[in-house]
Amino acid sequence: MATRKFDLVIAANRLPVDRVVGPDGRNEWHRSPGGLVTAMDSVMRHRDGAWVGWAGEAGEAPAPFAEAGMWLHPVPVSREEITSYYEGFSNETLWPIYHDVIVPAHFHREWWADYRAVNERFAEAVCDVAAPGAKVWIHDYQLQLVPALVRERRSDVRIGWFNHIPFPPVELFAQLPWRSRIIEGLLGADYLGFQRQADAQNFLRAARQLDGRTTKGETVTTTDPDGSVRVVRASAVPISVDYEGLDELARTPAVEQRAEQIRASLGDPEVVMLGVDRLDYTKGIRHRLKAYEELLVDGTLRSPEVTFVQVATPSRERVAAYRQLRSEVETTVGRINGTYSAIGRPALHYLHRSYPREEMAALFQMADVMLVTPLRDGMNLVAKEYVTCRHDDGGALVLSEFTGAWHHMKQAFVCNPHDIEGLKLTMMRAIETDPRQKRRQMRALRRQVSENDVQTWADRFLTNLELAPERPDRTGAKGARP
Ligand code: ADP
Ligand code: F6P
Repeated sequence: MATRKFDLVIAANRLPVDRVVGPDGRNEWHRSPGGLVTAMDSVMRHRDGAWVGWAGEAGEAPAPFAEAGMWLHPVPVSREEITSYYEGFSNETLWPIYHDVIVPAHFHREWWADYRAVNERFAEAVCDVAAPGAKVWIHDYQLQLVPALVRERRSDVRIGWFNHIPFPPVELFAQLPWRSRIIEGLLGADYLGFQRQADAQNFLRAARQLDGRTTKGETVTTTDPDGSVRVVRASAVPISVDYEGLDELARTPAVEQRAEQIRASLGDPEVVMLGVDRLDYTKGIRHRLKAYEELLVDGTLRSPEVTFVQVATPSRERVAAYRQLRSEVETTVGRINGTYSAIGRPALHYLHRSYPREEMAALFQMADVMLVTPLRDGMNLVAKEYVTCRHDDGGALVLSEFTGAWHHMKQAFVCNPHDIEGLKLTMMRAIETDPRQKRRQMRALRRQVSENDVQTWADRFLTNLELAPERPDRTGAKGARP
């Protein structure tokens, strides 16, 4: 059967759904974890396009299929490549380097070789489904070589790449033995999008200082293997959430009733604090639990008047640093509950699993204080989802200054999660501030997110891609400057 062709093709490590083979041997499709999928799923539901990605299981890929108006084109990843390309190079080499080396990065040449091989496979799959002149939108740190690999094969398409995570300062990026190959890979794009201006500047600085490229303002000049000279633009386009869809969901009677029900099942405490994260060491879960425990120890907070719900989605469970984090978090949860819970009234509810959107919206709606305390985070969509669900203007958001979200959510209660004393004070301020003041803050936060939603983000990215500086492969003439 001939492959279907699309004018818009996106490539991301994961498809929006993971294949899980059920006990009866039948395929089951579960929603994939993470902010990329949340954002791109709602973007692609409004556009006609193909999504190239891994189906989350080792071995042969399922045949391409249609899902919710999207064409999903699975790319196979073998058991060994899951270890080397995904868990290894993506999550034990790049992820720590791109997140301030919170844990040490590991460098292995075999992991790099497989990262290249899988990136080649993604590039081929993209070229298979891209119609002539298509827009190709590549996502995240797992696929940084794909822009150049697609360009080598298809000079007719327009290529953009967006990084959902931070781009590291040059001093950290410099540690990567393959840093120049990565810069070369990215410069295959026409346009590079980042969460913050600082991330775009870090990339431009790396290209200039480590690779001797000429940069001017937001652009880098590059020479392709065929000798043609191009200008690539790198700038900030902060990602967001589907405000309209989520706000509508949060207003449904079912979600509102569920929020009340959850609160009642917690024993109707005076204050409910909530954390929602992938179980990842970048999220500052240990720091917030430490702050909570100290507030219980010194009697500033008392259980069961106050309770804490921590939802932690399982993530990258075969990677050592994630296993260690899980064990530390679960030990702390056990200690806190052992010391401060009453029968039937835990001081801390720990939920290590995924929930449907409706349940997440109900959790957001019933929480008085949302704790978003990453040590480093590209954006953090949970912060934006929380305020989106608060159509009652209630609640309070504690937000780390090390998230991309903080840069445009300054009415939140800002914290530095490394400063445990400061974090405790901020948590208390979020509880004790006058409710009228908190409502004003929440209204301002909601306005900010509603005016900058995920569709605005996608439109801005695609416009920047369309207007990117130069299109030598099509006409030889310079395109319009954005
Ligand atoms: P990251 O991309 O690093 O995981 P984000 O905060 O940007 O972090 O995005 C996380 C996404 O995953 C959000 O859309 C959030 O609602 C969703 N999510 C987090 N935990 C769960 C869970 N336990 N069940 C369902 N969705 C979850
Ligand atoms: O945006 C960060 C991100 O790493 C995405 O690339 C990824 O899809 C998501 O978080 C979840 O991580 P993983 O795909 O490794 O489970």
